[in-house]
Amino acid sequence: MSSDGKEEGPGGPRQLRPLQHLFDGDATNVYLDNVCNLCAGTPGPDILRLCTDVFEKATSHKMALERENAYLFQYGATAGPWEFRDELSRFLASRYKDTVHRDDLILTCGATHGLQLILNSFVEPDGVIFVEELTYMIAISVFREFASMKIVTVPFSDEGVVPEELERIVAAEKSARGDRTAWDRTCKPFWAVFYTIPVHHNPTGVCASEAVCAGVVRAARALDFLVVCDDVYNLLHYSEEVPAPRRLFSVERSLCQTAPGGGVPRNVISNGSFSKILAPGVRVGWLEAPAPLVRQLTTSGILRSGGGVNAYMAGVLASALQLGLLDRHLDTVVVKMKTLTCTLPLSLAGPHAGAVRRAGRAPAGGLQPSPSGGGLLRVGAAARVGGRGAAARLRPRRPPRVGLPRPHLRPRRRRRRRRLAPPTLPLSAPHRRLPRRAEAGGRRRRPLRRHRRVHPETRPSLKPTPFLSFCEKAGHELRCPGCWRSFK
Ligand SMILES: Cc1ncc(COP(=O)(O)O)c(C=O)c1O
Repeated sequence: MSSDGKEEGPGGPRQLRPLQHLFDGDATNVYLDNVCNLCAGTPGPDILRLCTDVFEKATSHKMALERENAYLFQYGATAGPWEFRDELSRFLASRYKDTVHRDDLILTCGATHGLQLILNSFVEPDGVIFVEELTYMIAISVFREFASMKIVTVPFSDEGVVPEELERIVAAEKSARGDRTAWDRTCKPFWAVFYTIPVHHNPTGVCASEAVCAGVVRAARALDFLVVCDDVYNLLHYSEEVPAPRRLFSVERSLCQTAPGGGVPRNVISNGSFSKILAPGVRVGWLEAPAPLVRQLTTSGILRSGGGVNAYMAGVLASALQLGLLDRHLDTVVVKMKTLTCTLPLSLAGPHAGAVRRAGRAPAGGLQPSPSGGGLLRVGAAARVGGRGAAARLRPRRPPRVGLPRPHLRPRRRRRRRRLAPPTLPLSAPHRRLPRRAEAGGRRRRPLRRHRRVHPETRPSLKPTPFLSFCEKAGHELRCPGCWRSFK
């Protein structure tokens, strides 16, 4: 690159945009001082800066041990380094105030990788993914990558998913599929999976009640589907009055122990991560799974060939856990999160309220912190942001080119093409938008229009504001925050 910020490419010099970590661009960058970015579910720079101390101490501790053995630089155990799982089980047991067995844990590269591993390893290729109708938006993108699976939404209330509805919908799907003996041949133990965030749900902050949790586990055992609990926010619990909710994994274990002829746990997996409690950049997480599923995962070719994943980082984290560094760090994070989520709505109601309203984005229901943990803020928004748009995002984009019929897909309705009238107002009239085709200099922007139907957050009416940025406009480039596709 030359000193004037240009790079020689095949077509001549190219102007380079400086890469700004975390998101490449101006509007949504969480490192900008003048932007309070509410889109990114990630620890802020103030918290991440504290990680440098944690890692400095943990790394020197680990390296001192490795000078003798050098185990850490070798291929690792399929389920993750033994000492990491041992330390992690102790840490989780003390934080959850519950039993956690080392042998139930599998090292992953974070909850996203855990989810992919589960879908790959346990669910039929033509299986069904049940998902709460409000959910973590990028999980939908993960599901879409399993194009031959069907996605079905389940109603969600202020107490979490509605177990009766879940049971009804799953039973209907199961009977519609009929007897599928071919499942046995593919060695995948489940015909369906239910993805849920029962504790400090993203985006609503809701914690499922004990009754809801028990209902979900009973339904899973009765209808033989797998429950994947996204438990990434469980340890960010900050209410002293309300105890931290139990994870579903533990609920299933209790049900099996107490119910007569309860059987063995086999239907719930807890998917945890260090992304929220330490740093997303470390890419370390864990699955807590019943013994038969752990056994199946440890035969995974991918895990076995790679000697597990991320063994080096897991080794350093084992030292951080052993030295108590993570415990102290998490205490600090919880206090900071509590302070932030409780004071931000107040500050937005104060000096900045006018700016938010002027930007036309004052949330109809205001900003409500999640009362007991998770670091989430619920934003009441205009109907055009949620509702129809959210439902559209849950719908698969197009039928698979090959494979099984997908009866859940609605036939595409033909849209009547609107004829665009020539612009009648001068460009300077600020209160009227010109027809988009005229704005774009007569060029058709079909891909973008089609994309907007599926990703409503990229609609032009939703302009980035300092407080809530749904789309990023950097120079001439518009990127969809959902799938990161770029439109020049
Ligand atoms: C509910 C939920 N699950 C998973 C993730 C991603 O976790 P990881 O970084 O461990 O892949 C996020 C990140 O925002 C999240 O909110």
